[in-house]
Amino acid sequence: MAHTLVLAKQKALVLPEKHGKLVLREVDVPKPGSGEVLVREDAIGLNPIDYFIPETGLFVTLYPIILGWEAAGIVVQLGEGVSSVAVGDKALYPGVVGDGDRFATFKQYSVVPADLVSKASSMLLRSLTCIHLSLYLQIPDNLSVEQAAAVPVGLDTAALGLYAQPGERDGAGLSPAPWEAGGRGKYQDQPILVLGGASSVGQYAIQLARLSGFSPIITTASLKNAEYLKSLGATHVIDRHLPRDSVVAAVRGLTEEPIRIVYDAASTEDTHQIGYEVLESGTLVNVTIGHFIPEDKLTSEKHISDIFGNPYLPDRRELSAGLYKQLIALLSSGELKASHVLL
Ligand SMILES: NC(=O)c1ccc[n+]([C@@H]2O[C@H](COP(=O)([O-])OP(=O)(O)OC[C@H]3O[C@@H](n4cnc5c(N)ncnc54)[C@H](OP(=O)(O)O)[C@@H]3O)[C@@H](O)[C@H]2O)c1
Repeated sequence: MAHTLVLAKQKALVLPEKHGKLVLREVDVPKPGSGEVLVREDAIGLNPIDYFIPETGLFVTLYPIILGWEAAGIVVQLGEGVSSVAVGDKALYPGVVGDGDRFATFKQYSVVPADLVSKASSMLLRSLTCIHLSLYLQIPDNLSVEQAAAVPVGLDTAALGLYAQPGERDGAGLSPAPWEAGGRGKYQDQPILVLGGASSVGQYAIQLARLSGFSPIITTASLKNAEYLKSLGATHVIDRHLPRDSVVAAVRGLTEEPIRIVYDAASTEDTHQIGYEVLESGTLVNVTIGHFIPEDKLTSEKHISDIFGNPYLPDRRELSAGLYKQLIALLSSGELKASHVLL
């Protein structure tokens, strides 16, 4: 087993109980098992779910628990059988909460399940169990470790919302995805609306829509973000502070083609109503729990997809693996840019 010096104990932010407050505790450093690696975390991504869980008490039943869904750092130890990743490699990866805290990222070291699929196809490591798929990448030089740590959740949520097939937590089922054969430009000249384009999820949705060929790519945001969002691929930016009817009218004025995909990266009552009104038929992608459209208004022709951006889930495993296989190339070439904080 290759390794550098790793301490037996580490500091972790622990949520001790339902509705509790995070506390700093000393916990064991997990050992990477067969097909896994241990990563020293240098930056950790923060997400709305990290405060949503303590506030609402939802999602988690077993306490104490460690939260954190994404991070970046340096590989410090390899488990048995891992030969494609070296100690010292820079890495970014999604984590997952639960399962004894091994993969949660609010701590100094995390295990990343790492059953390597193919070195040539680069950087995708799978766990040995079917539940623990982990996606593991070497960070390109044009990305800081902080930017790298914030890639997985926003990107996975955008990507799965657009390209995952309908299922329990379904996506819009667009296919092929732009990282798959025949996916680039597949939706050429079809309009798309991305509500909340300045959010992290929204920035990735705009970029993926651009790679898929959508045009126009209409988004809503504060106008101070308009130029940046256009640099990512948005063709039109509508002021998100306008009244609902004005936003709907502005969108309708920008395309005569029917809008069949609305990605709602804000998912408020207002944005759900805008998305529903603008959608001719097709899918409104919702990123929050529940939605504001009455069920009797939804049909198989005009429906809502509730997305959970978790690439560990078995039904997205293949799609996510394909994305992570291409991600280094996309980030290195600048075809995909890590999201900026635009608050
Ligand atoms: N389902 C999942 O698995 C999953 C995963 C990750 C996130 N999410 C959800 O996705 C949403 C975005 O998360 P995030 O981390 O990407 O957010 P974020 O980066 O914190 O987004 C903040 C930005 O959202 C924009 N915004 C806020 N309200 C808006 C509205 N009513 N209309 C248009 N834009 C609005 C603002 O843009 P301006 O500065 O332009 O005003 C703000 O700067 C959250 O609801 C989050 O809970 C879901």
